[in-house]
Amino acid sequence: MKLLLVGFGNVGRALVELLAQNRRGLQIVGLFTRTRGSLYCEQGLDSEALSALQPGEPLSNHPRLSAFATGRSVAEILAEASVEVLVDASPTILPDAGPALGWCRQALERGIHVVLANKAPLIADAASLHASAAKSGARLLFEATVMAGTPVIQLARHGLRAEQVSEVQGILNGTSNYILSRMDEGRRFEDALAEAQELGYAETDPSADIDGWDIAVKLVILSQVLFDRPIALYQVARQSLRELSSADIQNAHAQQRRWKYVGSLDESGARVAPMALPQTHPLSQVAGAQNAITLQGKTLGSVTLQGPGAGGKETALGILNDLLELQGMA
Ligand code: HSE
Repeated sequence: MKLLLVGFGNVGRALVELLAQNRRGLQIVGLFTRTRGSLYCEQGLDSEALSALQPGEPLSNHPRLSAFATGRSVAEILAEASVEVLVDASPTILPDAGPALGWCRQALERGIHVVLANKAPLIADAASLHASAAKSGARLLFEATVMAGTPVIQLARHGLRAEQVSEVQGILNGTSNYILSRMDEGRRFEDALAEAQELGYAETDPSADIDGWDIAVKLVILSQVLFDRPIALYQVARQSLRELSSADIQNAHAQQRRWKYVGSLDESGARVAPMALPQTHPLSQVAGAQNAITLQGKTLGSVTLQGPGAGGKETALGILNDLLELQGMA
């Protein structure tokens, strides 16, 4: 299956590395970046040579450049007959998704499948993307948008298909959970944030992680998948993590509690708020960049999924899962 990959940051690079280790019948024919140029070759790009490029290095430093078309736009590459899947691993830009929404629309209208790690197109206009996909028969998959490669979308769509889920509560942002865990150990907020950035967990604009936007975005996506109920981003009530001081964290300690940045979703709506959970609460045990989600079902009761929620290779694995699902259909 031939892929156009958009974005060559932590996630895009990790996907290329996974494919360099094992191609699994997947071939990147196009790579587009907003600041470092683009490459296209119908016969496929060399994943190992791409992996050898340093972060930030222009794609034009790729060896054997004369074999490739360079400087093409996403629209131009999508117009090539060879592209079967658009993989968008570019940063989430809110509120209007920037050019990514147009790329996704163009792909789906042409019958090209879309696999997203970029959450923004689903916030900007999920309804029209799903409609375009239904019309052309292409698929729109987005496992990597929530809890990275930990398969919460699969669980919601398939594993719990027969269940009636009434309520969801979770730790859905790796960066903020990492920061809280480190503050719990006595680190300063700014130092913990710098570490999370260094480790590749944080969004390009870390305010998305700290002010709850990223969790709100994930609740919007989950509301659609779990409840078939579209909600808009502005409808998610949101409290920033910045309101929490080191003293709050120490005080919670004294009361056998731990602060967690929790996203909740139920009939009455969606909320993001720091909560001082008792240390006996399962979510209080979730540390570092781990995420966890508890879904309340009518028949099964409580079902909890825990796993990595951020990181380049962890997110790339979610993309790869979607690609394998598409391959299974072909
Ligand atoms: N910045 C996000 C997080 C990345 O920390 O969870 C995954 O969406």
